[in-house]
Amino acid sequence: MDRPVTWSAPGKVIICGEHFVVYGVTAIAAALDKRAYCTVSPRDDSVIRISSKQVGAAEWRDGELVKESSKGVGNRLNAYHKMVSAILASHDRRKGVNVVIDSQIPRALGLGSSASIAVATAGALLDLLNVSFEPDDLAQHALIAESEVHYRPSGIDPAVTTLGGIIRFKRGVKPVRLEPPAPLELLVIETGKTKRTSEMVRKVAQFRELHIGIFDKLMELVDVVSQEVELAILNNRLERLGSLLTVNHNVLRIIGVSTPELDDVVDASISSGAYGAKLTGGGGGGTVIAVASSQNLKRIYEVLQRSYSVRRVRLPQEGVRRESSPVIV
Ligand code: PMV
Repeated sequence: MDRPVTWSAPGKVIICGEHFVVYGVTAIAAALDKRAYCTVSPRDDSVIRISSKQVGAAEWRDGELVKESSKGVGNRLNAYHKMVSAILASHDRRKGVNVVIDSQIPRALGLGSSASIAVATAGALLDLLNVSFEPDDLAQHALIAESEVHYRPSGIDPAVTTLGGIIRFKRGVKPVRLEPPAPLELLVIETGKTKRTSEMVRKVAQFRELHIGIFDKLMELVDVVSQEVELAILNNRLERLGSLLTVNHNVLRIIGVSTPELDDVVDASISSGAYGAKLTGGGGGGTVIAVASSQNLKRIYEVLQRSYSVRRVRLPQEGVRRESSPVIV
């Protein structure tokens, strides 16, 4: 019980169905190649200390913030503190822990950084406590942190970061891993503009209140998009997949979560030869994904790279896992 334990979990993209998934529509998501790493070690006192290479460090004693490396850090790390103290309390552990986080996943760009950190932290902590657990337990624990970040989380981010690969997700139903016949390569293009997912989820809730009839019809439409995206992935129909992404992007525009920058990246991807593109995740800034033929991918990548930060990501990628070396911060 006194050795430090390290776990990691991947970032994610939502291939289709974000926002509507909050209201019960099926969505498809995939784990990325960038990961969040977390090392947990025991303490002799009751302090929970969380330090992040990217954000800073903060300490809590009996639920009270007692120290922070600079103003606001405690607030930014509080979601993870809540999850850690809930896990410790549910296992009747009175002593504290040190949690050290190093994340390769850019924050607030719709790439699931908070869920990956929460899942990796839950894995490391349960492992340290010698508790046996199922992947679903990690996703459930991570939801405690996600509720702070997302306002009304569907649970898709913790599910995909836990399971890895490409998954079909519907609220209240066990997620299913989809196995494509060949690796699927996506272009992941960052606008550089960050946003808060909770604000966008609230914005969609307002749209829904104003236009409930229209929203219900859009939900039906996105459900069809998700069914067809699944078939396109399983049959390696890239042209069809790309076009479905663009359909989904246009629905996301209707509900007000796209921005001129996101629309520009979608247009630039398609005009450089991609089969289709869409914003991914909460929107309001963040990231676009695009699909292209394997022959065109390199050329499109080079064109987009002149204006944006672009990565080629091969799917599937691994989900949560134990690591052998600790995070050094
Ligand atoms: O964390 P993000 O920005 O990738 O958004 C998650 C997806 C939403 O559907 C917008 C929210 C949710 O919890 O499903």
